[in-house]
Amino acid sequence: MLKIISTYLILLFTINATASVAKNDTCKGCHPQIYKEFMGSAHKKSTIFNDPIHKVIWDKHPGKKKDKYACAQCHTPSDPRIMKALEESTAAVPKDDAAQNEGISCITCHSIKSIESHPKSHDKMILLNNDKKRPTLYAASKDKRDTKVEYKVEKSFMGMFKSTTGSPYHDIDYSNKNFYTGNLCMGCHGHKENSHGQNVCTTEAKGAIDEKSNCITCHMPQVKGSATTIAISKKHTSHDFTGARNKPEMLSQYLKINFKQTNKGFEITLTNEATHNLLLHPLRLAKLNVRVNSGTTTKTLKSQAFYRILGHDGKPAMPWIATEIYKENMLTAGETRTIKYDTIVKSGDMVEAEFGFYLVNPKMQKKLNLIDNKEATKFNILKTEFFQVK
Ligand code: HEC
Ligand code: HEC
Ligand code: HEC
Ligand code: HEC
Ligand code: HEC
Repeated sequence: MLKIISTYLILLFTINATASVAKNDTCKGCHPQIYKEFMGSAHKKSTIFNDPIHKVIWDKHPGKKKDKYACAQCHTPSDPRIMKALEESTAAVPKDDAAQNEGISCITCHSIKSIESHPKSHDKMILLNNDKKRPTLYAASKDKRDTKVEYKVEKSFMGMFKSTTGSPYHDIDYSNKNFYTGNLCMGCHGHKENSHGQNVCTTEAKGAIDEKSNCITCHMPQVKGSATTIAISKKHTSHDFTGARNKPEMLSQYLKINFKQTNKGFEITLTNEATHNLLLHPLRLAKLNVRVNSGTTTKTLKSQAFYRILGHDGKPAMPWIATEIYKENMLTAGETRTIKYDTIVKSGDMVEAEFGFYLVNPKMQKKLNLIDNKEATKFNILKTEFFQVK
């Protein structure tokens, strides 16, 4: 009897774990533009096979020797095989197959029902079981708020005219508040604590409360092109998921750079309008580079670095070993920081301030064997401003 019960329980778990099986390609025909954007995004490239930076860290992680790819909860939640293995504590090893490389798939995200809070470790998402022929997807809409839309075809004039509402493939549920505030993002982005209780990274929750300005409005802005091929719209919600890896320049408006001449030289002021640390991942290194052009000569001044480096015993350490912050200088949420330069500038000079970042801190690139990796070693520019001295 006990055996039967436990098999039944496992079966229940399995159903949960295999939820969200519709593939990204299912959505392609009716949402081609969104599909295309998504295919270039960090969410699609979240696996060890598509993200070499994720791979090198996984290769060093103690979980690898134990065949426990717990990263899957956030990096590959759409692969039922690996999610099931994690639930059942059997070998959870990433395989370079189609299911794994779905990444964080369309249907997984649009099935996030709620977020379960876990102050220790990390928050978790609860998914709607969409392992069925006709899935129900969550979405936000000002006009249809709190309604559920099923597919309807209405005929008028004795069948001569046809009008449709909803989607022929799926139902839509507009009542999930998480899709209006961005809180659906927090199951993976909220915070992560290691086994020593050290916070590895945090995205402040205040960016996922306000309906007017949140993760979605900043990272998924309205861009040109129809959301579907069936109900034509002028704009749609971008699925590039602009961030450090993809199209950072689309976020440049949220970093303000100002210049002020002083009697000892000048000041550059940076204001971070993001609701979180300007860069979040502990591997990142940001820099402010300043150059002064006077006539035909260009003088490059000492650059200012921004970072949040994890540590252990007073030395830099990998995230799973870390017990402290080794060094921290990152621009925090809403912070304005002034950097002083003692270089005298004169009327007509042009001061160039360039703010950018490396995905992987140059000090770590060699250690992680990423010297030949273009994405990891490139200096990505978020914003450049030129100031003419009056
Ligand atoms: C057969 C065509 C078709 C397929 C396949 C399809 N959709 Fe849709 N989808 C539509 C149509 C049409 C709408 C617009 C419905 C409306 O405006 O009422 C829509 C609307 C949506 C919306 C809500 C848009 C909004 O904010 O009002 C989401 C989210 C969505 N689809 C996601 C998906 C995902 C994810 C997939 C793949 C798993 C998918 N769709 C597959 C036709 C399709
Ligand atoms: C709680 C969810 C969660 C878990 C579990 C998780 N990650 Fe992540 N990871 C994220 C999020 C969210 C990002 C994007 C953050 C950012 O860009 O600031 C990320 C980004 C990364 C990056 C940076 C990727 C890049 O291209 O620069 C690496 C490396 C990484 N994770 C490694 C791992 C490894 C290895 C594991 C498992 C041992 C793991 N993560 C487990 C949520 C998670
Ligand atoms: C990381 C989570 C996430 C992923 C992955 C994701 N979406 Fe979305 N999607 C959202 C959010 C958030 C919105 C904005 C709120 C809303 O309209 O539901 C949205 C909006 C939409 C809309 C409405 C667009 C509009 O302008 O009205 C459609 C359609 C859609 N998504 C389809 C897809 C398809 C197709 C894929 C995969 C190719 C996909 N989504 C992947 C989170 C996601
Ligand atoms: C007011 C706009 C704004 C809001 C709100 C916002 N962000 Fe950001 N976010 C930014 C800017 C600006 C950057 C830095 C530019 C970059 O990484 O290219 C950024 C960077 C990021 C990155 C990449 C950081 C890294 O180190 O790789 C992630 C991940 C991210 N945001 C997630 C979120 C999530 C999740 C939320 C909601 C809780 C959110 N953001 C809310 C503006 C915003
Ligand atoms: C299932 C977990 C999950 C959910 C839900 C999720 N993300 Fe992510 N997100 C990740 C992971 C993991 C990465 C890093 C992938 C990588 O680089 O390997 C990432 C990367 C990003 C990045 C790119 C960061 C960069 O470095 O360029 C942005 C921006 C982002 N997410 C925003 C969002 C927003 C906005 C939402 C909510 C609409 C969201 N994410 C929901 C797991 C998630």
